Amino acid sequence: VVSSLGGLGSFGAHHLNPESIVATVAAMRERTDMPFAINLWISNEDPEVRTFSREAFARTLEALKPYFAELGVPLPEYPNTTPAPVWGQRYDEQIKALLESAPPVFSFVYGVPDASVLQECRTRGIKTIGTATTPEEAKHLEAAGVDAVVATGFEAGGHRVSFLRSAEDSFYGTFSLVPLVREAVKIPVIAAGGIANGRSVSAALQLGADGVQIGTAFLACKESAASDTQRSAMFSPMSNRTALTRVFTGRLARSLNTDLVEALRRPGTEYEPAPYPIQSWIMAHLKEAAARDNRPDRMSLWSGQCAPLLRHRTAPELFDSLVTEMNQLR
Ligand SMILES: Cc1cc2nc3c(=O)[nH]c(=O)nc-3n(C[C@H](O)[C@H](O)[C@H](O)COP(=O)(O)O)c2cc1C
Repeated sequence: VVSSLGGLGSFGAHHLNPESIVATVAAMRERTDMPFAINLWISNEDPEVRTFSREAFARTLEALKPYFAELGVPLPEYPNTTPAPVWGQRYDEQIKALLESAPPVFSFVYGVPDASVLQECRTRGIKTIGTATTPEEAKHLEAAGVDAVVATGFEAGGHRVSFLRSAEDSFYGTFSLVPLVREAVKIPVIAAGGIANGRSVSAALQLGADGVQIGTAFLACKESAASDTQRSAMFSPMSNRTALTRVFTGRLARSLNTDLVEALRRPGTEYEPAPYPIQSWIMAHLKEAAARDNRPDRMSLWSGQCAPLLRHRTAPELFDSLVTEMNQLR
């Protein structure tokens, strides 16, 4: 929908297997003649995953037991596979499928693809967009030959996708990051984080961005894959508080704050989530039941700090209002 409106619609494919990536690119081509992006996570498995033992798994579940019991969900069991369980998708297999199906744009987070992948993208005419949470990461992406860079401030919804230092050591707000990245690189800069109306689009352009990327405001629209439970929460008073937490996936991400998030990070709880994607796999069991029982307080509710600004429920309405408001401010 966004591509047909004149934006660059982006499809997050990090959870898809190779066959589904090929099918998604084909389905996108069916739906629009305009450019669109397929997005992957370059690092989609924490190194600790390979050695995550049954004992560590059991320890991770301990603090979650009351929440699983409350919704009547059996505790997930450590998979009985040899040599080691496979918890998520393999990036090396995903990228092969992506290159084969050659979408107009390949965007990515959590690192930089190998030089051979970037070369293959150039050969196949696929434009590349990397994501930076610091000016250093932006320079790194430019030096690797990436075509454009998203500068994402920590007010954004979803994961903090830092790759040179830890996420906690890479906290830039959009207002600081965009002008710094503008100075640091010559490639086009796309501002992300906290942009939800024409005023913030306009401000991002003033800060030196060539374009903007919007997540939270589109997530709230009916065209997104968000559950009804999540969407209602985003339009409720819950939207006033977000938190950066590792509780849902093992990686730091911004969600609406809930008592579950607070309980697990209370001093003294010392809750240690499993590495990504094991924590995500564990919490998916709870999320399914929470969506069934309409319990937003028991699921991840990815959302940026701009959530209380949201007004629009469909992507075309949101898109039109962004353009109209921005033009009024010119
Ligand atoms: C639910 C959700 C999932 C996201 N998943 C991805 C992703 O897989 N890849 C990516 O590059 N960005 C992802 N993002 C980030 C958005 O692309 C965008 O940069 C960010 O939401 C901008 O900040 P905002 O939420 O304040 O609009 C996600 C954001 C949300 C809210």
